[in-house]
Amino acid sequence: MRSVDLGFEYKVVPARGGGAPFPLLLLHGTGGDESDLLPLGEALAPGAALLSPRGKVLENGMPRFFRRLAEGVFDLKDVEARAHELADFVQAARETHQLGDAKPIAVGFSNGANIAAAMLLLRPEVLGGAILFRAMVPIVPATSPDLRGVRVFVGAGRRDPIANPAQTDRLSGLLEQGGAEVTVHWVDAGHSLTAEDVAAAKAWLA
Ligand code: MLT
Repeated sequence: MRSVDLGFEYKVVPARGGGAPFPLLLLHGTGGDESDLLPLGEALAPGAALLSPRGKVLENGMPRFFRRLAEGVFDLKDVEARAHELADFVQAARETHQLGDAKPIAVGFSNGANIAAAMLLLRPEVLGGAILFRAMVPIVPATSPDLRGVRVFVGAGRRDPIANPAQTDRLSGLLEQGGAEVTVHWVDAGHSLTAEDVAAAKAWLA
C-alpha cells in the first residue's frame, strides 16, 4: 500500500484474511530502515497488518529513533520528544490506513525496542502490547504510566554487553510497576537476535 505524508517514511502492509486481529508496529535497530523488519513481522504474526516507520534521526547516516550522546547514553529530551512524535504518527496511521480497532503491538529491536519502551512509559494508551528485543531503559518517566492490560515480551541476551541483564531487570520493573504483564525470555546470546528469540516471541504472541 502507498504511504501518505504522516511525517515519517514508512511502509504499510494491509492485513490478509485470517491474519492476526491486531497490527504490528515494526521498529528497526540503528542503521536499519522501514523494510528491515517486514519479514520478522510476517514470521511472528502471518497475515497481520504491518506498519513500519523509518527512524528520523541520522547518526553518521544511520537512521535511529532518537539521538544518543554515546553508546548507551541517551539524549533524554530527544527521547521524550521522539516518543511523542512516533506515538502521534501511529495514531494517525491507524486512521489513515484503517488498521482496525485493536491497538498495535510494537515489535522493536535494539534502538527500535528502546523507542517502543519509551512509548509504553510516556504514552501508555497507544500500544496494546510490545515485543522488545534487546531493550534498555530509555527514560524514567516522572509519573508511573498506567499499563494495566498491556502485555510485554522482553527478549534478552544473557551476554548482551549493551542491553545488559541489569538494564533488562530495571526495564521490566518499571513496566510492571505500571501494571503491565511482563514476560522476560532469556537466551544464551549477545545483542544479536536469534531464532530462539523469534520462536519464543511468536509462541507468546499466539
Ligand atoms: C543501538 O545500537 O541501537 C543501541 O544499542 C541502543 C540504542 O542506542 O538505543
